[in-house]
Amino acid sequence: MSSFIVGVKGIDELLPSLLYPGSLVVVAGHPGSGKTTLASSICYKNALSGNRCLYLSLQESKKKLFRVMKNLGMDFEELENKGLYRFLRMPITKRVEEVVELISKTIAEYAPKIVVVDSMNALMQFISNSEKRALIQNYFYSLPEMLDGIVILIVELPFGEEKIDLGSIEFVADVILALKHRIERGLLTRVMEIRKARGAPVVIAEIPFTISQDKGIIAYVPPILAEITRGGAELKLPCSALGRVLDHIHRGHVIYMEHPSSFRPLESVPLLLGIALKNDLKALIVSYRYPPETQLNLFIRAYSICGYSREDLRKIIEKYVVFKALNPFGYSSAEGVAEEIKLVEEYNADIVMFHGVELPAIADRISPNYLASLYNQMNTLKKMGKLIIRVGSYVNYEMSNLFSALADVVMKFIPTETSEGEQKYRVYIWRRGRNPYLLRYEDFQGCLKEICEIIKEKLKPQKQRLQPTVGGDCYGSV
Ligand SMILES: Nc1ncnc2c1ncn2[C@@H]1O[C@H](COP(=O)(O)OP(=O)(O)O)[C@@H](O)[C@H]1O
Ligand SMILES: [Mg+2]
Repeated sequence: MSSFIVGVKGIDELLPSLLYPGSLVVVAGHPGSGKTTLASSICYKNALSGNRCLYLSLQESKKKLFRVMKNLGMDFEELENKGLYRFLRMPITKRVEEVVELISKTIAEYAPKIVVVDSMNALMQFISNSEKRALIQNYFYSLPEMLDGIVILIVELPFGEEKIDLGSIEFVADVILALKHRIERGLLTRVMEIRKARGAPVVIAEIPFTISQDKGIIAYVPPILAEITRGGAELKLPCSALGRVLDHIHRGHVIYMEHPSSFRPLESVPLLLGIALKNDLKALIVSYRYPPETQLNLFIRAYSICGYSREDLRKIIEKYVVFKALNPFGYSSAEGVAEEIKLVEEYNADIVMFHGVELPAIADRISPNYLASLYNQMNTLKKMGKLIIRVGSYVNYEMSNLFSALADVVMKFIPTETSEGEQKYRVYIWRRGRNPYLLRYEDFQGCLKEICEIIKEKLKPQKQRLQPTVGGDCYGSV
């Protein structure tokens, strides 16, 4: 018996049998919590695979609903033209018997697999007679089995009312999804609470989600650890010093780079370019500190030692690295992570660097919510096979230890002497399961020089670069 889908990535993988045929589904929440959006989304995604959907509305006009949903990436007009969707405005002025008759006539004729009632409260409001209320409620309760499909009843919760009191619906429903808004640090966080799910094992009861332009509902479901393959493809290190110490790194690894708050070595972040170039991979930087232009300029400055023109450097850097900035004080931790994953997907980056990682931690005071979001972000990226690099400033022992513990490779910049106005440093570097090393300033400078050579290679015109392979296949990948 194949189930219907929720149509939200993550949730269907987590709960594949949530919406089995014959289910009565209740979507409850305060105004603006996303009930209409979620119900429409379930309706839309299942209709796309041929399950006709009937939408019974008391509140909204079809035109308005279609317009809002189109902005969220759902084209109901097209669906309607294909006969896969029907919108029925319920006449609330009629007698209950007539309403039931109209609905059942439509259902008999249209034979939908999904019926949405938006909303039950609005419908009940016009029926004062309790017997008649029971009549219409019972009609909807028995409908899922009749259709061998699903019925979604939307239940409005008045503002200020925290407890969800659904009356008898709570007992009859097979699935109850309660949508809630939560304010974290003055920022809106939406969560979907799976209150009841007959026939599906629920371990995660609260799933943060966002409603996003063109994309609709995006859930942030913690990844299942068993699905994360350990040790993704091996990646090459961009210079001999790092190669000597680390040997190699993998996709899915987390590298943590830390510097003291009083000293930011110019070379730390731009090392990323070397890894990207050496492996011919795209890198994304999400900075919690600097806008994109500033980040690009720092890269150009760091590689000025190569002696190439600013334009050449810019060309190479922009080809391999995408710069983005995200204000950690502008998002709740769950939403920030959702935004980051969206960026990684959008730019199809293989390497993701987070810059200024101490800032979101400070913003959230390392709360349990923050830790859960961070852990889930890392595991989501690992599952996607990304190399993760986190760069931050030392704040305190607790944070430094936490970030180090979460990493596979740790690099700490320790300032040493200053000579000729130049701040020198050493790099304490450690890979999980290996001996730690102390790299000298000269080693690290040598590293950048080696990256200059890779840049030089990439700057050569395409034709010239290809020449060595002409005349023999022995230069294939090694
Ligand atoms: N294009 C959009 N981009 C982002 N958010 C949107 C968009 N359209 C609507 N929303 C959000 O969706 C919410 C409304 O959801 P809706 O499903 O109508 O709520 P409910 O039915 O529970 O009252 C609004 O609070 C709004 O913030
Ligand atoms: Mg609504």
